[in-house]
Order: sequence, then C-alpha cells, then structure tokens
Amino acid sequence: MIFPEDFVWGAATASYQIEGAVKEDGRGQSIWDIFSHTPGKVADGDTGDVACDHYHRYRDDIALMRELRLAAYRFSVAWPRIQPDGEGEINPRGLAFYDRLVDELLTSGISPYVTLYHWDLPQALEDRGGWTNRDTAYRFADYAQAVHDKLGDRVTDWATLNEPWVAAFLGYGNGVHAPGRRDPGEALRSAHHLLLGHGLAARRLRESGAGSIMLVVNSAPVLTPAQVNDPSAVAGEADAAAARRIHALLTRQFLDPAVYGTYPEEVLAAAERNGGTAHIQDGDLELINAPLDLIGINYYNPCVVEAGPGLPADAAWPGSEGVRFAPADAPTTAMGWPIVPDGLSRLLVRLSKDYPQVGLMVTENGAAFDDVVEDGRVHDDDRVAYLDGHLREVHRAIEAGADLRGYLVWSLLDNFEWAEGYRRRFGIVHVDYATQERMPKDSALWYRDVIVRNGL
Ligand code: NOJ
Repeated sequence: MIFPEDFVWGAATASYQIEGAVKEDGRGQSIWDIFSHTPGKVADGDTGDVACDHYHRYRDDIALMRELRLAAYRFSVAWPRIQPDGEGEINPRGLAFYDRLVDELLTSGISPYVTLYHWDLPQALEDRGGWTNRDTAYRFADYAQAVHDKLGDRVTDWATLNEPWVAAFLGYGNGVHAPGRRDPGEALRSAHHLLLGHGLAARRLRESGAGSIMLVVNSAPVLTPAQVNDPSAVAGEADAAAARRIHALLTRQFLDPAVYGTYPEEVLAAAERNGGTAHIQDGDLELINAPLDLIGINYYNPCVVEAGPGLPADAAWPGSEGVRFAPADAPTTAMGWPIVPDGLSRLLVRLSKDYPQVGLMVTENGAAFDDVVEDGRVHDDDRVAYLDGHLREVHRAIEAGADLRGYLVWSLLDNFEWAEGYRRRFGIVHVDYATQERMPKDSALWYRDVIVRNGL
C-alpha cells in the first residue's frame, strides 16, 4: 500500500526527554527538574540531567535522522532555556541552541516541527501557581512570540501545546507528573489556562506569519470492552453514556474550544462540581478559538470504559463519577498499554468528521518493549509489528477520507519516559546510556524502507 505523494514521514522527541545539559548556557529550572529530583516520583530515581545528551550530540543525531531518511523532525523547545524565570528577558544562549538545531536540520533536508510546550514549565512560574494561575497563559504567549521571532524565518510548522490533558490532569490531578499536585479543581483550571495559552500563542504566531499552527492532543477512541475487538458491537445505554462522557473529558475538552469556541457540557458540569467555572472568563472561548491548521494526534491505545454505578471520580478524571476504567482484551506493550491498531483508524475517521475543517497529523505513535541487544543489534520485531499494524490503519483512515498529512513515530531515540524514567524504551534507535552510543534497531531500518517506498 502506497501513501499520498506529499505524505510527511518523521519522528518526534521532546526537550526534557533527550537534551540533558540542564545547567548549561543559562537554562533555568523546570518543574521536571524539581519533580525528578524528588525521591519517589520517578522510577529508579532517574532524572533528565543527562538524558541522551542531545544538547551536545544534536549534529550526530541529525546525521542519523538523515540516514533514516526522515523528512520531518518534531522537537520541543525548553521554555526555561529561553526564559530562565519564565518571563522577561530572553536568554540568547538558550535560543542559539535551537537556532543551530534548525539550521542543521534544514541543511540536512529535514523539516523542523517545533512544539513550544512539552511539559517543562519554568519552576519560577510554578512557584506562582503554574498553570492554575491565569497569568501563565499570557507568559506562554510572550515566550512563544520570542521563539517565533528567532526561528520563524526558517520554521513554518508550529505546535503550541503537547497533550494539554496530560499536563493538566497528571500534573495537577493525580500528581503522577510534575508538578505533582493533586486537586481536581486545580486540574480543570489548569486545562482551561493551557487552552487560553494555546489561543493567545496561536494568535501571536499567526500575526507573525507562522505557516501552520497545530494543537497536539493525546486522543483515543473511547470504547466499551466489547467494542475493543468488535467495532460493530452496540453498547448498552449506560455504557454508551460512560464512553460519551470520557470522550468529552479526554478529547472534546480541548478540541471543541479550540475548533468551535465551546466547552462540552460534561466539562462544565465537572468544573461546577469542583470549585465552579469562574476561571472561564467572558471572551476566553473566543480567544481559544484561534484559527487552527492542524490537529496533532498522539495515539497509543484506546480508552476502555463501562458504567460503574456509585464509583467516585478517578483522580485524573474529574467528572468521571460512575465510570469504570476497564482492561482491554488485547496484548500489551511494556507500558502495559493494550495494542489495538484499528483504534487509530477509528479515531482518525471520527475526528475528521467531528472537526472537518482542520487537517490531521499523527504527531506520535509508537511503543515501549523490553528490547534486548544481541551482537550489536536489536531485533525488535514486536515494535516493527506495532508500527506496521498502526500504519496500515493510518492508510485505511486516509482511504476512508480523513485529511491526514503525516505520521511521526515516537520516538527517534530511547529517552527519559517521565515517571517511568529510562527503563521504558520507545526509541527506534537504541541508546546505551553509559556510553551514549546510538544504534538503530531493526524497527529503524524497517521504517527507513517504509519511507523510501512511501508505503508498506
Ligand atoms: C506522549 C508524550 O507526548 C511523550 O512525551 C511520551 O514519551 C509518550 N507519550 C510515551 O508515553
């Protein structure tokens, strides 16, 4: 099967997960520096202090991307490198790193896709309330402008936020991610302020002439247990209502305001039960509803739910009272996430119908497996099968009419997998953290062939 001629193939990473060099060139601290250095927060006490040392090795890493024939590379900018305290003066040495990175990518024929926020909020802003503080949204827009001022002459493809659901609800809801707060009302407020930051930044980028603006969400089809292996299974009314509510909390909470300037009633009801809606001020939804070119979809697995009468809300899901999160009848990755490739086509087709005026791009898809290095190779057949299965579904979604522009694998390199530290490896390239040696896994070589053929 062959993909459309202009289909974009690439890979993605994020600043804190790969850069290291946390004290260099005037970088300030982020919430992830503080969180990862707090005992008990990250598996094995891992931190991003060194990570893949990409800050020093970016040239070699780009050479590798080139060998793998990547056409696009999605990376994120670390806000605390640009503004160590989250506001005010710009740190030219921090910006210079991304300047060099972009130049090297362009020289290598690789299009940069810049994500402005992939979770490393300057700690100084967290000290003033972080995303629960409305002011953070305005600070984010200023920072976005500063990055665009420097790179906008060469970068056309921009993403404001990566996975605001995770930033808000794991960061401020269940506390599994930085800054590790646990308060459903704060999480809902944070989600709104992230959206406001998106809208304000998107407007500034647009006024400055940005070519393409994208919001990246972690989305998933929300299925009942029976629908995992049988898409045509009809859910009973109570289970269907549970699935609708979780879909509203996961996906519509972000895409409805961004694309239509409205909140789903389920989100407003969750806010009412958790401190109220006063943080949603008049005019906010109009600001959030800034023209959008693309929705970036990060897909790993479906969300499986059924009615759970009497259950309290899950800490990461304010508004999920009466819903049970159920296991899926499917094999799993090393993260324990169910492998359901056709969940991706079901999701893409649905989103292309719900938001038909906006293009789609798969900005992350991939899997962690327990890789073994044997004679200098990693025969990661499980990852190849995962990627192959999902790419077939991407193709199926395109055939079904979804306006899908490209696919970026997560991730180029094994890296710091947040609360899981380094023990979970998502890379198509293996990283030996003791030597920083990179070695393309079989999946990388397979992916290169897919790219060269523009198909499977
Ligand atoms: C989504 C996040 O954007 C990325 O940072 C993370 O590593 C992957 N999912 C895998 O969990």
